[in-house]
Amino acid sequence: MSLAGRELILGVTGSIAAYKAAYLLRELTGLGAAVTVCLSEHAREFVGPLTFRTLSGRPVLTNLFDPQSAEAVEHVALAERCHAVLVAPATANVLAKAAHGIADDPLTTLLLAARGAVLMAPAMDGGMWAHPAVQANVATLRARGVTVLEPEEGALASGLAGKGRLPEVERIVEALYRALSPARDLAGDRVLVTAGPTREPIDPVRYISNRSSGKMGYGLATAALRRGAQVTLISGPTALTPPPGCVFVPVQTAEEMREAVLQHLPSATLVVKAAAVADYRAKHPAGTKLKGKREVTLELVPNPDILAEVAARRTGAFIVGFAAETHDVAAHARAKLESKGIDLLVANDVSRQGIGFDAEDNEVLLLDRWGGTRALPRMPKAAVADAILSHVLALRAGAAARKAHT
Ligand code: PMT
Repeated sequence: MSLAGRELILGVTGSIAAYKAAYLLRELTGLGAAVTVCLSEHAREFVGPLTFRTLSGRPVLTNLFDPQSAEAVEHVALAERCHAVLVAPATANVLAKAAHGIADDPLTTLLLAARGAVLMAPAMDGGMWAHPAVQANVATLRARGVTVLEPEEGALASGLAGKGRLPEVERIVEALYRALSPARDLAGDRVLVTAGPTREPIDPVRYISNRSSGKMGYGLATAALRRGAQVTLISGPTALTPPPGCVFVPVQTAEEMREAVLQHLPSATLVVKAAAVADYRAKHPAGTKLKGKREVTLELVPNPDILAEVAARRTGAFIVGFAAETHDVAAHARAKLESKGIDLLVANDVSRQGIGFDAEDNEVLLLDRWGGTRALPRMPKAAVADAILSHVLALRAGAAARKAHT
């Protein structure tokens, strides 16, 4: 995803975490955003404007300007037209001022002028964060539509441990994407996504698995979260970090995945099964490590077909399966759609380089149970995920309209 074309204001206030704002700024500009930094007087005690000017390529706003000057008027205009104001780190002081509409320096003035999204990433001592006054200010801001992230737990500058650390850069950027996301069209939906491979043990150190990286499934979970859904992500082992805000259920084997899926199925309104479930497992995994230099015969038994079982339960959820094919993709996918009894099948040709397993991109064919077929061009998996979700919404609306006419 990109932030190209996005005009942002990054407010930095006086916390020891102010240096982390430089990393955040580098990430934002790397994603294509145009960022104007506004430093509070106390932030400048921790990090100088030169760092931010160099990283943003723009002059830095400090609290030295005269609120009546032409420069001040220009910056208020910038706040009015920017897509988002992001305050990171946000101290208890700036949260209090913003909650009460106090505008006694450039940053709090810009916060009042902002018309786009406002996000605050707090950083303070754990005791301060828990203080009823701070919590009341946070509640006020949230009720007004401001995104106030939860700080993270860990070691604090005071030498104590607790909840008060500035959220990681990835979490802040993800929150920004969600705040800027134009569509909240999955609000109210509960989406169950499976991702990654399963691992079927042969002995305590060896397993049967496949090349699934989890990128397609994690992309779907991320896209659904950005569009307002509650998301449960059931994932086999991958190297990926689950998107913030999802309920994450890690599993190893197909049987564990089946159990987790069936447990979460009753509340799901949409199920998307992007996981590459191993079709077979060893019938009798060895209890101790198999010794080398001798022939071993593995007896394999089929794993349960989770997708078919989910469809057979007819819970009312919209069900999307994937198909990994290597030839005659459309014909095999249509047969799979019908045999599994699902609503939509996303087929990819996993014999092709650059798409499918462990690739950044995918190119898929969407086949639905009403006879429709749609080919999506090769795109990054994040964009494929968004296109799949949009297609689901269109199909669901079509099905509801047909039902209303019968
Ligand atoms: O993870 P990535 O590296 O990003 O790669 C993405 C992907 C190639 C894994 C993904 O796009 C994909 O195709 N996922 C499905 C892979 C697969 O197992 O396909 P299949 O044709 O074998 O299975 C069909 C469907 O049945 C799938 O939805 C699968 O989750 C499901 N299934 C399969 C076997 C089984 N025992 N239980 C199941 O539920």
